[in-house]
Amino acid sequence: MTSQTCSLFVLSIIMVYFGSFGNSLILANLQNDIYDLKADFNASLSDVADGGPIFTEKLKNWTERNEKRIILSQIVSMYLEMLENADKSKAHVRRISEELFTLKRSLPDGLKKLKDLMDLTKLQMSDLKIQRKAVNELFSVLQTLVETPTSFKRKRSQSQRRCNC
Ligand SMILES: *[C@@H]1O[C@H](CO)[C@@H](O)[C@H](O)[C@H]1NC(C)=O
Ligand SMILES: *[C@@H]1O[C@H](CO)[C@@H](O)[C@H](O)[C@H]1NC(C)=O
Repeated sequence: MTSQTCSLFVLSIIMVYFGSFGNSLILANLQNDIYDLKADFNASLSDVADGGPIFTEKLKNWTERNEKRIILSQIVSMYLEMLENADKSKAHVRRISEELFTLKRSLPDGLKKLKDLMDLTKLQMSDLKIQRKAVNELFSVLQTLVETPTSFKRKRSQSQRRCNC
């Protein structure tokens, strides 16, 4: 219940992030609904501040729009899961849930992206066959980097920094 309360505390801030690419009119309408939801979840209890925020701090380092949409997709799913057990007979709960569902449909599947990353960590890079595959794909991978100018620039400045040492 504590983590739920804590999540609610930052829901409105999350909504502000959506405001940059969602409908800010809907956002304004949701403010009162979120206010009611906070009351439902006792989101003003003093323990909300314990240990700091659970979502907003993490969001800070996800600066690029597409990156942010991945983590937001995951966070929205978590809110939806939390609201599944909330009282749907309350209008504000229904409106917030519906809005989150709509937002989720407009976002990439964060969980799928997360699975891609987890799959990569499982690859045995000491395996000779994996190494052959990797070398075989190296040029294509680098080509993909060149096609996304911002990440390429960042990678390049990182390696430059390494050279200076
Ligand atoms: C909120 O607080 C009230 C009063 O202490 C309590 O009865 C209720 O169960 C609490 N609700 C939640 C969701 O924690
Ligand atoms: C986020 O970025 C800041 C500044 O680059 C850094 O100090 C901080 O450790 C980062 N936080 C996380 C959770 O990675």
